[in-house]
Amino acid sequence: MSSAHRVDHPNVVVMDHPLIQHKLSILRDVDTGAKEFRELVKELATLMAYEATRDFQLAETTVTTPITETTTYVLAGKKVAVIPILRAGLGMVEGILQLIPAAKVGHVGLYRDPETLEPVEYYCKLPEDIGERDILIVDPMLATGGSAAAAVQFLRDKGAKAINLLVLIAAPEGIEEVVRTCEDVRIYTCAVDSHLDDHAYIVPGLGDAGDRLFGTK
Ligand code: PRP
Ligand code: URA
Repeated sequence: MSSAHRVDHPNVVVMDHPLIQHKLSILRDVDTGAKEFRELVKELATLMAYEATRDFQLAETTVTTPITETTTYVLAGKKVAVIPILRAGLGMVEGILQLIPAAKVGHVGLYRDPETLEPVEYYCKLPEDIGERDILIVDPMLATGGSAAAAVQFLRDKGAKAINLLVLIAAPEGIEEVVRTCEDVRIYTCAVDSHLDDHAYIVPGLGDAGDRLFGTK
């Protein structure tokens, strides 16, 4: 079954760079062990951050090269917060900080109740100036969209404004839920898969991201 489904929505960016697709294929493989899985999640997060920061503003500056003085550009001092949804989102943090080392990191703890599939909040710690920061929520999986939508609502209640969601694999159902409930949130994903199974796992997906990252099953 193809894993290259497309969505045509202005707030959804599917990142089809060859390096991303190659790494994602290894990540999906049932025989990829926890060590390699962790490395790949980190590398994919770095590649995603590269694209998700494309619209950052630049400011003019002057640099003296060994040859002459010239006008060049530097980042205009944008403040960023990376917000992993615990626990699987933790696997993406380091990869993003490699590109944006000055970013602050906030944590939102949510798990999906296995019976109801509803997100349950159990932890939250955010940077104090969250309302002034560009936010990158990170989580490898967007399945029903319940966890992501809850995280967005939660951050909005705390004053967050500019919110982006970075996921490695999304189900069409999850994209639809976030687009429907979270106006002005841009979703970046490496793939849009086929559908959810009866337990709301993404098909073909990669299984349980948290368990594969931390070796808990
Ligand atoms: C996974 C995943 C997302 C959520 C996606 O976390 O990391 O947070 O499920 O599902 P949804 O879109 O249907 O809400 P899980 O609840 O398994 O918790 P974990 O990260 O602690 O393993
Ligand atoms: N959470 C996961 O870790 N994997 C899925 O496929 C769905 C939710």
